[in-house]
Amino acid sequence: MRVVLIGFMGSGKSTVASLLGSMYRKLQVIDLDSEILRTHDYKNISQLFAERGNEYFRQQEKQVAERFNTLSSVVLSPGAGVVEYPETMKALLTPGTYSIYLYASFNSICQRVTDIANRPLFKNADAALELYNRRLPLYNKYCTVAIDTTNLSPSAVAEIISAMITPTTIIKRSN
Ligand code: S3P
Repeated sequence: MRVVLIGFMGSGKSTVASLLGSMYRKLQVIDLDSEILRTHDYKNISQLFAERGNEYFRQQEKQVAERFNTLSSVVLSPGAGVVEYPETMKALLTPGTYSIYLYASFNSICQRVTDIANRPLFKNADAALELYNRRLPLYNKYCTVAIDTTNLSPSAVAEIISAMITPTTIIKRSN
């Protein structure tokens, strides 16, 4: 199964992806931001943004998405902004991919977002709210299914996803 988790900063994409990875032995976990940092010498995403800019970051994001677009047993966790880049979305959402939107209310996002070093676009609540509102319809457009994670723990979200993606066998009773 190929799963892509989309959603705003702080929606739990990376945490839920790694929880899913620990639930399924053969499922690879790819966090796009971590992949980008792995091949660069910057200590975090903010430093990369400051030195190379948004366009460069988006190119890198697209390249990582393309590098992994043939994997079929994988959960991918891209950054929140990926939905604004159709070519990257095309590389992520190959046929058969399950795209899951981790929705969370803006209030809960503000409480959850702590790692500012890796979130140069979360400058302040007003700027973040503008981005949040702009992206909301895009998450809805690109998702196969949405989960309201506002009042859920990451492990509860991972359990819900697991129940959705694990094939179930229905055994017909013979009367
Ligand atoms: C971004 C979100 C970040 C990171 C980069 C850009 C965005 O990822 O990719 O700072 O455009 O909202 P998270 O969604 O993991 O915070």
